[in-house]
Amino acid sequence: MDGTSTPQSVIRRKREGHCLDPAELQGFIGGIADGRLCDGQLGAFAMAVCLRGMDREETVALTLAMRDSGRRLCWDTAGLRGPVLDKHSTGGVGDCTSLLVAPILAACGAYVPMISGRGLGHTGGTLDKLEAIPGYRVAVDAQTLVDVVRRTGLAIVGANADLAPADRRLYAVRDVTATVDAIPLITASILAKKLAAGLDALVLDVKCGNGASLADPASAHALARELVAVAAAAGLPARALVTDMSQPLAPAAGNALELRLALACLRGEAVAPRLREASVELAAVALVQGRLAPDLDGARHLAGNALASGAAAERFARMVAALGGPADLLEATDKYLEPAPCSAVVRAPEGGWVAGFDTRAIGEVVVGLGGGRRRGDDLIDPRVGIDGIVPVGTAVARGEPLMRVHAADPDALAAALAGLQASCRIEAEAAAPASLVLARYGGEAGPA
Ligand code: URA
Repeated sequence: MDGTSTPQSVIRRKREGHCLDPAELQGFIGGIADGRLCDGQLGAFAMAVCLRGMDREETVALTLAMRDSGRRLCWDTAGLRGPVLDKHSTGGVGDCTSLLVAPILAACGAYVPMISGRGLGHTGGTLDKLEAIPGYRVAVDAQTLVDVVRRTGLAIVGANADLAPADRRLYAVRDVTATVDAIPLITASILAKKLAAGLDALVLDVKCGNGASLADPASAHALARELVAVAAAAGLPARALVTDMSQPLAPAAGNALELRLALACLRGEAVAPRLREASVELAAVALVQGRLAPDLDGARHLAGNALASGAAAERFARMVAALGGPADLLEATDKYLEPAPCSAVVRAPEGGWVAGFDTRAIGEVVVGLGGGRRRGDDLIDPRVGIDGIVPVGTAVARGEPLMRVHAADPDALAAALAGLQASCRIEAEAAAPASLVLARYGGEAGPA
């Protein structure tokens, strides 16, 4: 805060709908990082922003203040031979693209310091998926992150205390004060961490549909536009794809089950076409941004080759070993990923075409099985979840499998089956899935 403002005056001014200036925001965010402000003040500030919003300039100032609340990685001295790129997704169900995009980019010559998050609400988190790997360390210091990226081309880890520490506090308060879904707060939270990671370029995957955090299309598009514009104002070239989240992206939801699918994709198995398509597309956009490919078609080709040739798999394996996991995870997956003790199939109650899912309900069932958290300190059971989910557009006969549930015990299994029976809509007419990429923002693309 400048000499005259106090935390209370900043909160009051926002509550009354005024625009906050950069000095006020820097002072307030500095007070979050150094512990001068209490959680009540953070909650009141977040609620005032939710109710009153922020204009673009304020959002940029908030983002920069959050970025500057900790240290910034600088890659200039690291002797890298390629651009520093990353991908961020706003979260969905069965979305394990990070596990594919990061090694694809590394295999194509980029460096990827991917600072990821845990599951949030009904959506899964990359760190929870990686923690299904015995020994894998997601909590590393900034120096280890830099070393692993330099050696293997990528590191997927959690935010550490040094990078954007104000976001860690503010995010935890938002999570319990119903203030997560405000576009200026989401924008600043995502971009502060990406700016602190010292990227050359960023591709954003903004989910849209009934499994996304922001389900309504207008909000998803507004978030995509805001992310691209604020990143540009903060000096980070970014592009955003708005992608469909009206069905699980992969045919599995749950930590070890999604990890298994991602490993199968890395081994070149054709097990999850929509997940593969999304990963290749996101990687392709980043490769063009990083000037590792001349255009999108060339970049798609490079990304596809990185998967088909095993080059991405090799990068992933090196990263896992460097961060404490087993060196033979890809070849000996079953040795390391324990199955859940109980499983059962959900069957089609009638014949027809799979026309849609209640995707959020599927994510919530996974949380209920123990694959996500209801409270911040809940322990995750990596074994549980759902797999074999048939995609929208599949013809099914009565009694055919729609998906399989994996649970820790028979009671949890029964509860999940009850929740899932109604999650799949079957219709008499053939239904086509929504396009995967709904819009593009940034670069020459503009809105699609
Ligand atoms: N992811 C983040 O890092 N922050 C948000 O606010 C929402 C999603």
